[in-house]
Amino acid sequence: MNTRDGRCVSLWQNSSSIYQARPVTGDNSFYDVIIVGGGITGVSTALQLQEAGKKCLLLEANHLGFGTTGGTTAHINTLLDTPYTTIGKNFGQENAMRTAQAVKDGLMHIRRNIDHYAIRCGFSDADAYLFAQDEAQDKKLRDIAAATLDAGLHVTTTPEIPVPVPFTQAIRVEGQAKFHPMQYLFGIAKAYEHIGGAIIQRCRVTGVENNDLVEVETTGGKFTARDLVYATHIPPGVNILHLRCVPYRSYAMAVTLEDEQYPEDLAYDMYDPYHYYRTQEVDGQKYLIAGGKDHKTGEEPNTESCFTQLEAHVRKYFAIKEIAFKWSSQFFEPADGLPYIGHLPGQPENIYVACGYGGNGMIYSSVAATLITKLIMDEVSLYAALFDPNRIKPVAGFSNFIKHNADVVRQFAGKLFPSDKLLQLADLAPDEAKIVQYEGKKLAIYKDAAGQIHAVSPNCTHLQCDVKWNTSEQSWDCPCHGSRFDADGYVLTGPADRDLERVAIESVKKSKVF
Ligand code: FES
Repeated sequence: MNTRDGRCVSLWQNSSSIYQARPVTGDNSFYDVIIVGGGITGVSTALQLQEAGKKCLLLEANHLGFGTTGGTTAHINTLLDTPYTTIGKNFGQENAMRTAQAVKDGLMHIRRNIDHYAIRCGFSDADAYLFAQDEAQDKKLRDIAAATLDAGLHVTTTPEIPVPVPFTQAIRVEGQAKFHPMQYLFGIAKAYEHIGGAIIQRCRVTGVENNDLVEVETTGGKFTARDLVYATHIPPGVNILHLRCVPYRSYAMAVTLEDEQYPEDLAYDMYDPYHYYRTQEVDGQKYLIAGGKDHKTGEEPNTESCFTQLEAHVRKYFAIKEIAFKWSSQFFEPADGLPYIGHLPGQPENIYVACGYGGNGMIYSSVAATLITKLIMDEVSLYAALFDPNRIKPVAGFSNFIKHNADVVRQFAGKLFPSDKLLQLADLAPDEAKIVQYEGKKLAIYKDAAGQIHAVSPNCTHLQCDVKWNTSEQSWDCPCHGSRFDADGYVLTGPADRDLERVAIESVKKSKVF
């Protein structure tokens, strides 16, 4: 089974194993482009660049699909989370049409990859249904329908929707799709390696120097390239984009149904946060995948209640036979509604980024791959200005990109904390966590199911906000910019690229001493 950035197991990770990359041979120190991040954006971009004749290296801190690609629900949408009404309002009608064209091109490119490389990933076309459930939503739906039509998508009103949920009005938007994201990811990774691309997994970038060429320090050695792409969901370091992308968690479950009434198309209600539904067949079994209950990362004290509420919602409308999988995942909401794809603000021209996809990562990853390839190949793109990360207005007093301070002040060096004292202080049941004060210092303590204590500093290594415990995924999540760490402080999700400081605990059987 594949692993992911949390305890919960997604449908996709359960039905895929860890990617086995080919050994990197030959001259492996210099590349045209280094791509950091082995999710769908990184691998799609690496494949397109390699196809365009570049010599590429993809670096992944864990293994392919460890992050959000392993936890998405894989709706491939041109009907976007940011309604075309909002895109039109923020960017003008022409740019709403341009956005629609960009995502249509993105879908075409996914389709082309699947055909060209014969990728078996359960891809199928689908329509999307957006439905209203009260008068206020009716009015909003009519506006969205008109703006979506004006943007160039095929929209019709419909008297039926594919899910048994009461509704007042609904629209159908053609030209959407769905697939198994890990099978697609592995398919394009194999294609990329087949044409000469290099992948190194379990290789964390620890430093980047830019002197005409980019020198990348990693846990696996040093590599040099002309260009660098951060496909890490959010760039590392301290960047203005961290102020323009808000991290959210979304909850999903894959269930089997008693009555086999699986919806073949995609469906969305209009609440905020909205619920979403679709079906995927995996290894001969159909699953209804339902999701919702989104909240800002680190702001929900009881993440288990999100699953409980989601389950109650799904049970209300569907005859659930079994809840086979439930998991949560992270996405970054862009401030103005469109993703940031292109040159990384505050960095030299040869550093690129793609982030801020909202809930449309599948389609925008493909848009990003094409756009970044064109930028690196010095080709013209119709979409470069639209998605340019530098479109954002400067924030007073904020330097665009602050170089990382690699030397964090270690608070707990040389200290040994008695585990019985910590236990007493935190008064934890198994599988519980708390932040406590001990001798004037804050400690983030987790007691695992076996009774072992794990203690770390709650100070996020990105910009020192206090992390919060996520019960469902057993992670310390940072509410400021979305970094996440496991119970022992290891980085699961950036922008932090350094672990939380671990606290040495005076030996008790099975305790870890660092
Ligand atoms: Fe920025 Fe934690 S992610 S302070």
